[in-house]
Amino acid sequence: MAVNENRRDFLGMALGGFTAVGGIISLGAMKASWDPLPSVKAAGFTTIDISGAKAGQLNVEKWRGKPIFVLKKTPDMKPHDRDIVIGKDRFHISIGLCTHLGCIPSYFPKKSEFICACHGGIFDVNGEVVKAPPPSPLVIPPFRLDGSKLVLGEEGDEYKKLKAAGLVA
Ligand code: FES
Repeated sequence: MAVNENRRDFLGMALGGFTAVGGIISLGAMKASWDPLPSVKAAGFTTIDISGAKAGQLNVEKWRGKPIFVLKKTPDMKPHDRDIVIGKDRFHISIGLCTHLGCIPSYFPKKSEFICACHGGIFDVNGEVVKAPPPSPLVIPPFRLDGSKLVLGEEGDEYKKLKAAGLVA
């Protein structure tokens, strides 16, 4: 009897150990996929190295308390005037707040859309409104390009061109 109990205890502990290790591995994998791109914050500016961004995968960064969407476009996503071009890569970068009442839209990669759960507003991968009520596109934050780095909070030449063309808001 005591032998069986010991065996059961051992099996229970072994199973518990496997479960714990499996859970830790899963958490590690989830954390790896949630990790933001490397960024440095200083005096109102946030510098994000976007060279490691994967095409079609949304990265959500933070700048002055606001979510910033960084989406490296896939080759099948059509070029758009609001794209931020770095080398051969095209990015959609915007403040991730719905222009209706400020909810944070979710990205649906299969639809290539940002959908706002609050009132059903939809934006495409260029931040343009596909479905109301949002009155205007997602806002492009002030930025400056520094090689493959994006300096948020500074108005560089690329941002000024978009702004002059009326494309940032
Ligand atoms: S806040 Fe996004 S649709 Fe209303």
